[in-house]
Amino acid sequence: MQSLHLFFKAQSPYRLINFILISSSVCIICLLVSLLLVHTYNPLHTYSSFQAVYAPTTLEHIVFGIASNKDSWPKRKEYVKLWWKPRLMRGCVFLESKLSDPDSYNDNRTLPPVCISEDTSRFRYTYRGGLRSAIRVARVVSETVALNHSDVRWYVFGDDDTVFIPENLLKTLSKYDHGLWYYIGTNSEIHIQNKIFSFEMAFGGAGFAISYPLAKVLAKAFDSCIERYPHLYGSDSRVHSCLTELGVGLTREPGFHQFDVRGNIFGLLVSHPVTPLVSLHHIDHMEPIFPNETSIKALQHLFKAVNVDSQRILQQTVCYDRWFSWTISVSWGYAVQVFGNHVFLPDVLPVEETFRQWKEGNSLAGVYTFNTRRLHPEPCRRPAIFYLDSVYPDSNGVNSIYKKSYVNCSQDMASPRKLEVIRVFSHKLDLNTTQLQAPRRHCCDVLPSSAGEVMEIAIRECEEEELIYMHP
Ligand SMILES: *[C@@H]1O[C@H](CO)[C@@H](O)[C@H](O)[C@H]1NC(C)=O
Ligand SMILES: *[C@@H]1O[C@H](CO)[C@@H](O)[C@H](O)[C@H]1NC(C)=O
Ligand SMILES: *[C@@H]1O[C@H](CO)[C@@H](O)[C@H](O)[C@H]1NC(C)=O
Ligand SMILES: *[C@@H]1O[C@H](CO)[C@@H](O)[C@H](O)[C@H]1NC(C)=O
Ligand SMILES: *[C@@H]1O[C@H](CO)[C@@H](O)[C@H](O)[C@H]1NC(C)=O
Repeated sequence: MQSLHLFFKAQSPYRLINFILISSSVCIICLLVSLLLVHTYNPLHTYSSFQAVYAPTTLEHIVFGIASNKDSWPKRKEYVKLWWKPRLMRGCVFLESKLSDPDSYNDNRTLPPVCISEDTSRFRYTYRGGLRSAIRVARVVSETVALNHSDVRWYVFGDDDTVFIPENLLKTLSKYDHGLWYYIGTNSEIHIQNKIFSFEMAFGGAGFAISYPLAKVLAKAFDSCIERYPHLYGSDSRVHSCLTELGVGLTREPGFHQFDVRGNIFGLLVSHPVTPLVSLHHIDHMEPIFPNETSIKALQHLFKAVNVDSQRILQQTVCYDRWFSWTISVSWGYAVQVFGNHVFLPDVLPVEETFRQWKEGNSLAGVYTFNTRRLHPEPCRRPAIFYLDSVYPDSNGVNSIYKKSYVNCSQDMASPRKLEVIRVFSHKLDLNTTQLQAPRRHCCDVLPSSAGEVMEIAIRECEEEELIYMHP
């Protein structure tokens, strides 16, 4: 700064103008050459060029279509309230008819508007034992497009018990060019479900996204597809079949979750893949995700962390305490597990089978699409669990505090169970394009300030060539 200033002082006005003219033309030439080089040599060029052309995608560019019915909506709308931002989001909840109780509309300022589905009685439905409402729900796709919203980049569909994490949905979609044809979502956790319905189908409850130009074409063809597939079971099969006829396959994003499991989904939540959490589903079929809470209160508690750092929610970081030979797994914003022994990272990551099968009996129904590990039969031999208590940002980053979940292990006090509180320091995550495209797990350290009943942990980006293991 200073030397430049001195340089200008020493020049006569004429020479100064010359200098500016020459240096600015040099600058322009440099810029053109560098643009050309980037264009020619950057291997990411085709991928990232659309991001240079368009303004960033915001929630206003998404239109939601939520499938519900008048019996479930009065209860399930509590789930939608968790994530719906009335002034920023557009779309509709589709019901088969108007709600009979006028009081049901009292809280409609915090919810999406209600749209009444069109009559679908002219379509055939021949799947024995299925529900013909599948046709009405499938048509949420074409009826949402028919609302004719302007400036749409993505249509996103879900059920009334799909809980989206809006910022992460946006982050995930931002990887893709909305001007191209995309069908984005995920399939079931259960192998046999995918075998029956298709690995190429986005399961509806997990939520899925269709880019604007594809949705337009799909909507036009949709009724003809519905007529060709009366024999299919669900709404998502009908959408999938029509997209297949258009020649489009599923782009899988593991942040969407169908959650075809029951009971305690702790194991699935703490082993989230290294990608932003986009959706949760089937909340009515699982226990509250925090002990001693109702389902809705437990989700509200998780959203305290979501609202502070949505992109880090559930992201799993593992570090070791060399002194005690403990393995510590932080699933940010939700829970910390402390194993009283050394566990290699690849052995920490498989999903703990805390949950029950979606359908009892059939052992094939318990074959999942990811690695699992069994729970130790004795609760005192399982890792100690610390659940999120509070989370708050401060000038140095984000503090989150986790408190021990009670297990009667009075015989076992030498283990990590003597800890009461775990304090985790982190920085708000804002993944850039590179990090979304080529994700990498973060690292953590047990801080020397840990003492007695309190352990302190700091999460950070790993060093360039750092390995995650217990250093001898
Ligand atoms: C909410 O419901 C009331 C009463 O039915 C209706 O008059 C109003 O337009 C609704 N508001 C919105 C935002 O849907
Ligand atoms: C949307 O546009 C189509 C075609 O222009 C039109 O037929 C339809 O009535 C419009 N729908 C609404 C809700 O405005
Ligand atoms: C759950 O509630 C019971 C009874 O109110 C209490 O004793 C226990 O400490 C609570 N557990 C947690 C984890 O808060
Ligand atoms: C804890 O377990 C011990 C023996 O295993 C039992 O005597 C004690 O009553 C239990 N305490 C509680 C609070 O359940
Ligand atoms: C993204 O962030 C990482 C880590 O901070 C950095 O190394 C990389 O250069 C960034 N990439 C872009 C395209 O900004």
